[in-house]
Amino acid sequence: MPELAYLNGKILPISETYIPIEDRGYQFGDAVYEFIASYNGKMFCMKEHLDRLQHSMAGLFFPELDKNFIERAVFELFEKAKIARAGIYIQISRGVAPRDHAWAKNMKVQIIMTIKEVKELSSKLREEGIDIITVPDERWLNCDIKTVQILPNAMAKQKAKNKGAFDAIFISKDGIVREGTSSNFFMVKDNKLITPPLSKNILPGVTRRVVLDLADDTGIETQEKLFSKTELFSADEAFLTGTITEVLGIKTIDKRKIGTGKPGKITQKLYKALREKAE
Ligand code: PDD
Repeated sequence: MPELAYLNGKILPISETYIPIEDRGYQFGDAVYEFIASYNGKMFCMKEHLDRLQHSMAGLFFPELDKNFIERAVFELFEKAKIARAGIYIQISRGVAPRDHAWAKNMKVQIIMTIKEVKELSSKLREEGIDIITVPDERWLNCDIKTVQILPNAMAKQKAKNKGAFDAIFISKDGIVREGTSSNFFMVKDNKLITPPLSKNILPGVTRRVVLDLADDTGIETQEKLFSKTELFSADEAFLTGTITEVLGIKTIDKRKIGTGKPGKITQKLYKALREKAE
């Protein structure tokens, strides 16, 4: 089960794969990415991830790339690595050119991928829930585009780790809840599932959409609306969603207990439903 890399059509061991130092992804963060997981040898929500990749590329005015071409490349890597529970990271940069803030004409996008075994989160974490902190949202204004410019996310995650928490969620300067550092945020209040609506302030999470649909299917009332940090603390349940996070219950936010301080019934139900759908 080799962990492999893909570089513009070539498949190699990750340790033997290099990108040129004048790749704009490296120098300007001028690149977009996706992260897709497989369950039992089948990619989950591949189409949705590739649609979002195209949305991100269009958002940065990259030339259009045939979705079938990317899909074939992903499958080629997937089939070669033979990892049943895989995480595929795809990154597309604008290309390579002598360093200049404005980009050169006729640039050729660079496609890189890696495939690795997914490290499942521990069952202890899933059963007990996670501690999270809130941090000011200091990101740019196009968070619906999945660019590799995620230093504020990395800094926020590190801050959480330094404080002994698992993750952080971003709060706007007006006190509005946005999303996690690599996940979307949901809360449950009076049996209603509430999450911020799609906007340029959050990533349109693939898992977010799946979870909203699963809630509809199982008769859980859903609402997409903005809510404040103050409202968080009166939630009955709260959880994060994401490709690796899946549905991950929260026990405390800024050290304050949420609900009973354990992942609640709706959180557990949605986690189970998501796993069943994916597997
Ligand atoms: N991140 N919000 C942000 C800021 C994210 O980076 C992600 C995903 C999500 C959840 O999206 P999805 O459900 O499609 O995975 C929300 C990936 C996993 C990453 O950065 O590796």
